[in-house]
Amino acid sequence: MTDLSPDLPRDPRHDPVLREEVIAALAIAPGERHVDATFGAGGYTRAMLAAGAEVIACDRDPDAIAEGQALVAEADGKLMLIHGRFGEIDRLLAERGIDAVDGITFDIGVSSMQLDRDARGFSFQKDGPLDMRMAQEGETAAEWLNRADEAEIADVLYQYGDERQSRRVARAIVAARPLSRTGELATVIRKALRHPPGAPKDPATKSFQAIRIHINGELDELMEGLAAAERVLRPGGRLGSERRGPPPFSRRRARCAPARPKRRATRARAPRRCAARCAPQPRPGRPN
Ligand SMILES: C[S@@+](CC[C@H](N)C(=O)[O-])C[C@H]1O[C@@H](n2cnc3c(N)ncnc32)[C@H](O)[C@@H]1O
Repeated sequence: MTDLSPDLPRDPRHDPVLREEVIAALAIAPGERHVDATFGAGGYTRAMLAAGAEVIACDRDPDAIAEGQALVAEADGKLMLIHGRFGEIDRLLAERGIDAVDGITFDIGVSSMQLDRDARGFSFQKDGPLDMRMAQEGETAAEWLNRADEAEIADVLYQYGDERQSRRVARAIVAARPLSRTGELATVIRKALRHPPGAPKDPATKSFQAIRIHINGELDELMEGLAAAERVLRPGGRLGSERRGPPPFSRRRARCAPARPKRRATRARAPRRCAARCAPQPRPGRPN
């Protein structure tokens, strides 16, 4: 089992909760080639490098790539950092002459940097432009909410946020259009759900999560990423994941792999063939 130094520094910008467990489960041997499919602040990449791996990391967010350049310089040729979607990781690797890897790891969801920066528009706790695009291109949350019909919005809130009062919230959103700020949207949702100030769980949580998943096509990406991982993992290769998954991730994952409880590190061989049922059709013009 990999001996990951407990002294490995944690990045104050984003601290992956299960880093040690996931890295141990990957059982990295020095000199192996591993993919960190969700680079973020590079917590997993640092741990893989410390375990002696050569790392190819990717992220769809250009800020993550720009901020990761210092680590590329530190890694002394052992880290390749790519801007792109993990749904096409096999193509991104092939373009760089790599056709197989020993491991691939996904830390699914939004990073703390994305949530904490008002201007990215992911958080209902901060007022900012209603954006929510990880890749910083394509349709913003405001553009979608201002053009979609009520039924489409309700479906997204229900399916990706498990919002039981999705129709009521969608009706309130449509009545309040045009919306342009996260603060406005949060207020509309709270009013629609008659939220008493100071109640423990903010009722905007589920809707914000659902809209973010929709805007970034996150479920389709996950399915495409798993199918791509199957194509690039060499025999005996390992698939690792950390997932603070909302229910829709769990439901869809259950079709590809045995259901697992939330928040656990997983290690698996390359997924068995499931692409026929699970892999979504590519969405034309999807941003990185
Ligand atoms: C939870 S954070 C990862 C944090 C990282 N493990 C660390 O230690 O800092 C998820 C990251 O994955 C990126 N991401 C999400 N979906 C992606 C996709 N389909 N392709 C590439 N990157 C993606 C996000 O932009 C974000 O930076």
